[in-house]
Amino acid sequence: MADIRPLVAGNWKMNGLRSAVAELDKMAATLKENPSKGADVMICPPFTLLMGVAKTFADSGMQLGAQDCHVNVSGAHTGDISPEMIADTGATAVIVGHSERREDHAEKDKLVAQKALAAWRAGLTAIICIGETEGQKRLDLTLKVVERQIKNSLPEGATAENTVIAYEPVWAIGSGLVPTVQDIKDVHGAIRKQLAGILGGEGEKMRILYGGSVKPSNAKELMSVDNVDGALVGGASLKAEDFLGIIDAYRS
Ligand code: 13P
Repeated sequence: MADIRPLVAGNWKMNGLRSAVAELDKMAATLKENPSKGADVMICPPFTLLMGVAKTFADSGMQLGAQDCHVNVSGAHTGDISPEMIADTGATAVIVGHSERREDHAEKDKLVAQKALAAWRAGLTAIICIGETEGQKRLDLTLKVVERQIKNSLPEGATAENTVIAYEPVWAIGSGLVPTVQDIKDVHGAIRKQLAGILGGEGEKMRILYGGSVKPSNAKELMSVDNVDGALVGGASLKAEDFLGIIDAYRS
């Protein structure tokens, strides 16, 4: 198995006023003092906070990401943000195809692939999210759905450097529910096989994160599953204590 440096990324979603920067400062201060040797650490706050926190992040070794991007560089797209604008803040990554965007904004695989390409154009790492709904799981369609999402949302040219895959079962997001260790192992194993089939060595090295109700109490177990190369964390990334507790899974 390839030697992969894990990534623990926090997705703040539509949370975080300026007052929440105190939590980011706490995370940054702790990580500056006691760096996370075993994993890269990233937070994806809302667009409104990106500029303001970039310097703190750079000083602490934490990486900064955004949660979505438009496919174009600039132009008449009211309310949208381009990958180039995101890169201009100092951020180095962007989440694309999160299930909440697929659901709230009817984003399809094809658009997700275009967004990933746009992210690369701006020099950003694309964190491409995939995952089945509760109904699909009930019908035993998980592997089929995930395979289709990868086939259609992963553009040609993906490398272990420019792309991270995040497997987030939709029913596990914010619900406190998590798949069994065996299910995670099976899905991540199937994703690895597919990535290696499409991309060869790059697919062997590409990070596959697990996301959905990751907490300090379950992080160690989840992060030790084969082919789980880190986590995409929602709710538990909002508080420094919880997020640092998850990162601790990689300290020992
Ligand atoms: P929770 O960790 O709150 O379940 O959210 C996961 C998620 O959607 C991260 O992108």
